[in-house]
Amino acid sequence: MPGIDPDKVPHHVAIIMDGNGRWAKARGLPRTAGHHAGVERVREAVRTAREAGIANLTLFAFSSENWNRPKEEVQDLMGLLRFFIRRDLAELHKQNVRVRVIGCRETIQSDIRPLLIEAEERTVANTGLVLAIAFNYGARDELTRAMRAIAVGVAEGRIDPATITEADIDCHLDTAAMPDPDLVIRTSGEQRLSNFLLWQSAYSEFVFMPCYWPDFDRAAFHEALAEYGRRNRRFGALAAPGLAVGQ
Ligand code: IPE
Ligand code: IPE
Ligand code: MG
Repeated sequence: MPGIDPDKVPHHVAIIMDGNGRWAKARGLPRTAGHHAGVERVREAVRTAREAGIANLTLFAFSSENWNRPKEEVQDLMGLLRFFIRRDLAELHKQNVRVRVIGCRETIQSDIRPLLIEAEERTVANTGLVLAIAFNYGARDELTRAMRAIAVGVAEGRIDPATITEADIDCHLDTAAMPDPDLVIRTSGEQRLSNFLLWQSAYSEFVFMPCYWPDFDRAAFHEALAEYGRRNRRFGALAAPGLAVGQ
């Protein structure tokens, strides 16, 4: 990919797709028009990630706090998820993409649950890009569910509290077996996590893009990857792993 050092391609990119409503407002359109335009960019982002050789892409589609929006907007967003899975699943499967859905399954509409399961089951053996859709996802909710599951293990005598490790916590999260995000991108100019991947982003690089999500095209994605390539990750040490100190 032009301008990007293949050694500096992140293994996992997570994107907070923000700004659909403001994109629409700036054009005198209803917020829903922004969400519809945003779905087209999801396809493009998947394509760009595959071309760039990124192994894992996580997209924040609907947060556990987004239920606080007007009912009509929530309905529209649910409709878009259904539309995306029905329209794009076959193509994603053909592209060898493995779909995962992270977030709480309990509180989502009952007709959406089977669609999510179908997307995961149909693509489970695929070996290409892992596309994790964060839907009804909140990091505090994810951590709470993980802690409950661990507490049940302790109560049943399967888990010894004294031996719980960070890896044990990792494997109780929705993202189990996925690497931590190397790069978290947020569009729309906001500079906050909004309850996204709190545990997993401990050492992520953050790139905040000024454009609204419906304007986040291939060039903008490349710009974020190039910015990531210029970062020097240290993980608390004095040099990036694999590099001699002082390099
Ligand atoms: C992101 O765009 C989509 C979701 C959060 C579901 P927004 O709807 O948050 O758009 P803004 O931030 O209000 O412009
Ligand atoms: C975060 O965006 C959630 C998604 C992109 C799905 P929000 O628009 O919900 O975040 P806040 O409310 O501005 O923090
Ligand atoms: Mg927003």
